[in-house]
Amino acid sequence: MPTERKSIHGQWSNRFAFILAATGSAVGLGNIWKFPYIAGENGGGAFVLVYLLCIAVIGIPIMMAEVLIGRRGRQSPINTMRTLAYEENASRHWHLLGWAGVVGGFLILSYYSVIAGWALAYVFRAGSGLFTGLTADGVQSIFSNLVDEPERLLAWHTIFMVMTMIIVARGVRSGLERAVRLLMPLLFVLLLLLVGYAWNSGAFHQGLDFLFQPDFSELTANGVLIAMGHAFFTLSLGMGAIMVYGSYLPDNASIAKTSIAVSLMDTLVALLAGMAIFPIVFANGLEPGAGPGLIFQTLPIAFGHMDGGAFFGMLFFVLLVFAAWTSAISLIEPAVAWMVENLGMTRIFASVTAGFTTWLVGLLTVFSFNIWSDLKPLAMIPVFAESTIFDLLDYLTANIMLPLGGLLIAVFAAWQMKRESSVDELAMGDGFFYRSWRILVRYITPVAVVIVFLNAIGII
Ligand code: PHE
Repeated sequence: MPTERKSIHGQWSNRFAFILAATGSAVGLGNIWKFPYIAGENGGGAFVLVYLLCIAVIGIPIMMAEVLIGRRGRQSPINTMRTLAYEENASRHWHLLGWAGVVGGFLILSYYSVIAGWALAYVFRAGSGLFTGLTADGVQSIFSNLVDEPERLLAWHTIFMVMTMIIVARGVRSGLERAVRLLMPLLFVLLLLLVGYAWNSGAFHQGLDFLFQPDFSELTANGVLIAMGHAFFTLSLGMGAIMVYGSYLPDNASIAKTSIAVSLMDTLVALLAGMAIFPIVFANGLEPGAGPGLIFQTLPIAFGHMDGGAFFGMLFFVLLVFAAWTSAISLIEPAVAWMVENLGMTRIFASVTAGFTTWLVGLLTVFSFNIWSDLKPLAMIPVFAESTIFDLLDYLTANIMLPLGGLLIAVFAAWQMKRESSVDELAMGDGFFYRSWRILVRYITPVAVVIVFLNAIGII
């Protein structure tokens, strides 16, 4: 029996709108900025293989679990967990999972916004023709100029947070559907254009080999954890973003098909970004392991040497900002939905409160690229010897909080919820597909996550 619940925040107009919104959440800086740089730092091919494997066996089943929980509860993740825990006779502590997601969302958005600010800054740098004819050195100094200046980073971070709060205040549904429908395909086309440039860069094969030839001697246990963490990060899983979007999903939409569609699109975008970037890295003698600045130090070379590069460059960074924007709003939506439900706040007030808090935490990241760049708070732990505050925030959220959140979501959906509840909500019958999903979330994903954790801390 489907529940009669309705979300007080409204509903997507149809399944397609949800796919757009969830894709908007999933496709973001994670695909274009983060994936290439962590693949570069962790040796390429073998890392990419583990990441793809994690998307398939962990990511997709957990996305289904998250949407299923969200749609059944039809409230913010905190209240959804509370309601479902009650209905399923599970411990009332399950709502803490919703809280952990809210905290994770704040922390992620705090640094996400700073990086999105870099993309914003690059819209103007590209548009003014600054990249024309530049060499790798020139591009590097433009990047350093930006991140070395705390005031500049702060200004862009502030602008991006304000942009995000405006959309969240208006409600995630208005405008979002239309923007994503138009801009996502455009981003895709521009990525193809960049891959075309990389094709002619003289190092296309070298780039592809790096990305797709697994060399397992390059992969550490920590690298495996980073690959798995990224599968969660890039699909927006483990903190309630997809859950809250699922709570706006109409009753008749197929959860399995939508989850698979979103995951495929997300993965495709990441792989295209990698195929554009690594050939440029090798053709210009750059370092694949250059770190968070990687795309900002490679793509401008491509734009600086192609016809119409100023225009395409500007357009690319505009689209990157949009992609980041549609992800950012999903990072804060679980908190805002809860504030509206429980504190009786208006959406506007809730957005401003949440946005200001995030902005404040974002200062940690702003400073970790300049005045605090030598501060390595956990230097006594070998893996963190070189980690700045930004690196640690990223590690804590993407590699620990999201996989842990995802693990608990799987446990709730497959062990705490009654079988009938999930059969009913997934609405794909009780046959082969349902059973495979259930085996995956019941056994495979929890065990895989635990093994990767234990492996990374050196226990196995
Ligand atoms: N998936 C987004 C990206 O790849 C980031 C994100 C993580 C969004 C977690 C929501 C929740 O950029």
